[in-house]
Amino acid sequence: MLFVAGLLLGLYNEVVSAQNFTSAQTSIISERLAQGAVHSWEYGTRIEALLELNAPTYSVMSFNAIPPPHSIPSNISSALGEVFTIAHNIVAARSLSNITGPQPLIADTSAGDPASIGVAVLLANWTGQGALDSLNYAGAAQDQLDFLFQNVSRTTDGALSHKVDQLQLWSDSVYMVPPFLAYYGVLTQNQTILGEAYTQICLYRKYLRDTAAGNLWKHIQLGQTGDDDGHWSTGNAWAAAGMLRVLGTIQHSPYENSLKSQQDNLAHWVYEIHRAMFSHINSNGLFYNYADNNSTFYDASSTALLASTVYRLSLLGNIHTYIPLAEQVRKALLASAGTIVSITTTSTTPASSATSTALSGTATTTSGLLHFTPEGWLTPVVNPYSYGAQGSDSPEGQAFILELQAAWRDWVADGAQGANDAREARPRVLMIGVITVLHCLVIVIG
Ligand SMILES: *[C@@H]1O[C@H](CO)[C@@H](O)[C@H](O)[C@H]1NC(C)=O
Ligand SMILES: *[C@@H]1O[C@H](CO)[C@@H](O)[C@H](O)[C@H]1NC(C)=O
Ligand SMILES: *[C@@H]1O[C@H](CO)[C@@H](O)[C@H](O)[C@H]1NC(C)=O
Ligand SMILES: *[C@@H]1O[C@H](CO)[C@@H](O)[C@H](O)[C@H]1NC(C)=O
Ligand SMILES: *[C@@H]1O[C@H](CO)[C@@H](O)[C@H](O)[C@H]1NC(C)=O
Ligand SMILES: *[C@@H]1O[C@H](CO)[C@@H](O)[C@H](O)[C@H]1NC(C)=O
Ligand SMILES: *[C@@H]1O[C@H](CO)[C@@H](O)[C@H](O)[C@H]1NC(C)=O
Ligand SMILES: *[C@@H]1O[C@H](CO)[C@@H](O)[C@H](O)[C@H]1NC(C)=O
Repeated sequence: MLFVAGLLLGLYNEVVSAQNFTSAQTSIISERLAQGAVHSWEYGTRIEALLELNAPTYSVMSFNAIPPPHSIPSNISSALGEVFTIAHNIVAARSLSNITGPQPLIADTSAGDPASIGVAVLLANWTGQGALDSLNYAGAAQDQLDFLFQNVSRTTDGALSHKVDQLQLWSDSVYMVPPFLAYYGVLTQNQTILGEAYTQICLYRKYLRDTAAGNLWKHIQLGQTGDDDGHWSTGNAWAAAGMLRVLGTIQHSPYENSLKSQQDNLAHWVYEIHRAMFSHINSNGLFYNYADNNSTFYDASSTALLASTVYRLSLLGNIHTYIPLAEQVRKALLASAGTIVSITTTSTTPASSATSTALSGTATTTSGLLHFTPEGWLTPVVNPYSYGAQGSDSPEGQAFILELQAAWRDWVADGAQGANDAREARPRVLMIGVITVLHCLVIVIG
């Protein structure tokens, strides 16, 4: 039995390893990300992609303990250096403005987006970067936290606004705020803040989940500038990925045993988004910009992030149901130019049925790829500054494809669970899925 499993895995590895970025291609994609990411949430998203891809010891998605080591292993010091450069530049710029007390890391119109940079600032403090450049990283992180808690408006039941000028909830916020709160809570041993990360997610799901649309999440609710009731694919992916980051943070922390039902719920809510989204996957392997609206364009950006969350849910939640589909999607995103991609969308068939062809093992550019420009930009993508319009260069899309690469790599290293299993999976969390969450508050005991 073991022998057969080993054979299957060996065979499987041969199939998957044929479709993989070369290190030169990963570098080009990373360069476009570095060049393009200049807004608050783009810094935060780039930080997360760099940690997951190049410094897994400091990534909450890996199996490493949180808090991470104070002293940085030498083989990842240059990878972390890129993350610290972002934190340094932002904290240094902040101190030029003479504002003291609660404030965001970058003052923009979003209340939620700047918090996404907080993870890098917390890491800079944790690893003692302030002793090298005299910046007060702990103070900057605390000011960001206090700004969220003291300045940002909330719904009556406590959901933090995503905007500064009005009370408005965006699905994007689930990736920006709760992962920062969770990391802050674990590093400072404050379970109230960790609990708040979960509470925010629970509240956002309450407002944005659309039961009339099979549990797809709406994009924007409340506020004066109008709702976006549509089911924006990137928003669904932001939500799933943000929930997984909080799940990973709790799971690898000393609070693992005291927040069991919260972890089960988070895994279940990610699975709920997968079930909703994958019923709308197209045969070319991409989602529409609005998943259930075929008048909108195809979007490789949301597709990459959502596919990454399938591998992460397999690793963190032991749920493999959508792995065969994610494998087909990943191969479609990495397909060679000229390939006619036709994935099997009707069932969770094993990955080997994807018909796209293999990448060249020695390619030094992305010019031979169906979904990349020769310069290394993912395409086609939504315009990240105008969510209803198609764009060309998307920094966040660059981060998403790197997160997909990192998630897939980690999943392969873990034995590619669920790859050859076409049966309907029986995820552990479905059993607790029937438990109704009556309120979103975490009661902190002791
Ligand atoms: C994918 O390619 C990279 C080089 O870009 C290599 O280091 C890695 O081992 C490959 N992964 C798999 C699972 O084949
Ligand atoms: C760094 O080295 C450690 C211990 O030798 C190893 O476990 C880890 O995989 C390495 N990390 C990277 C990113 O190479
Ligand atoms: C900050 O304070 C210093 C010293 O009081 C002053 O010279 C500088 O102009 C102030 N900067 C801003 C942006 O207000
Ligand atoms: C935060 O709120 C305090 C108290 O209301 C106020 O004094 C301060 O100006 C606010 N800070 C920012 C950055 O809005
Ligand atoms: C900053 O790091 C120190 C340990 O190096 C830790 O004790 C402290 O709680 C950290 N502060 C924040 C806000 O993370
Ligand atoms: C935890 O954080 C909250 C919010 O910043 C703060 O009010 C509380 O005093 C902290 N608890 C402890 C034990 O430090
Ligand atoms: C688009 O969706 C509508 C509504 O679900 C459906 O009636 C129509 O056939 C679809 N068109 C295409 C080209 O798939
Ligand atoms: C679908 O998208 C089109 C094009 O953006 C838009 O005009 C239409 O209102 C959308 N339909 C729904 C039901 O949201």
